[in-house]
Amino acid sequence: MGLLTGFENVVRRNEPLAMHVWFQLGGHAEYYAEPENTDQLVELVHRCHDEDVEMRLLGQGSNILVRDEGVPGMVFHLSAPAFCGIRIEGRSIIAGGGALLGRTVTTAVHRGLAGLESLIGIPGTVGGALHGNAGTRSGNIGQWTIHATVLTGAGEICQRAGDELVFGYRQSSLDDLAILDAGCELEEDDPQDLARRMQKQWIIKKASQPMGHQSAGCVFKNPRGASAGELIDRAGLKGTRIGGAVVSDRHANFIVAEPECTSQDVLRLIDLIRNQVRDRMGMELELEMEIW
Ligand code: EPU
Repeated sequence: MGLLTGFENVVRRNEPLAMHVWFQLGGHAEYYAEPENTDQLVELVHRCHDEDVEMRLLGQGSNILVRDEGVPGMVFHLSAPAFCGIRIEGRSIIAGGGALLGRTVTTAVHRGLAGLESLIGIPGTVGGALHGNAGTRSGNIGQWTIHATVLTGAGEICQRAGDELVFGYRQSSLDDLAILDAGCELEEDDPQDLARRMQKQWIIKKASQPMGHQSAGCVFKNPRGASAGELIDRAGLKGTRIGGAVVSDRHANFIVAEPECTSQDVLRLIDLIRNQVRDRMGMELELEMEIW
């Protein structure tokens, strides 16, 4: 049996990834699968595992730069309804790994459950948010998360809770192939009050960060005790351009891709920023964005 036998409707070959990522840049995936349910996903993972085919999981593509060469092997995308459910149980919200973080946040707020409202405006899926422990100065998703169901690269479904859930600054112990769902335990609060707090966060974010489809969140992590955006700004790099890649004028820790941009332009701009910040500010910057 071939790798794709029986999955012809679910897997595409040579899929351009640019249309699946916010930067709208980068090459192709050798295989691109949108399974309809967990059984199909598990079966495909088993086959890839048996045949040593590399596997990656793509959420909304809001924190990823795909190289112009593209990626070998299989890219999974969990956009089918089976992976995107959101439900409330008492004070908990349980969301599929493919559910949008934004929808999860607003669902909790409308039900009068507090905790996630500061995450409003962060793009991406719940799985992506947990993988990188998405957050703001006011909080992160990990601090509310009490369990997660993951799928390993060997095709095994496991529950993670307690000691197995460790969240740090933009990192987490959830680094298996896929996060299938996760539960957050929240606090009861007045829905109208909460909605007001959420709107305030949204306005602050819109005023301080570029919003749109040609960038991908903060490029670098904040070094301990400092802000990457401020360092890049003080190094005089706002507006610096390589090809079609430009350091955002609005927030220096964002790179905006103009229409003629390539991934190589972004990678060269990342190198330039790192070198200049090292030379002028004496600080090392570490990537937050993931590069494929
Ligand atoms: N600043 C500048 N110039 C700039 C950008 C920022 O001087 O171009 C200054 C600001 O004036 C402020 C300080 O730097 O005094 C911090 O800026 P900001 O409040 O925008 O926060 P940040 O540290 O740059 C972090 C997260 C953001 C998150 C915001 C708000 C990281 C790498 N960034 O940014 O998260 O939205 O706080 O809570 O942790 C992300 O992780 O992708 C992201 C965008």
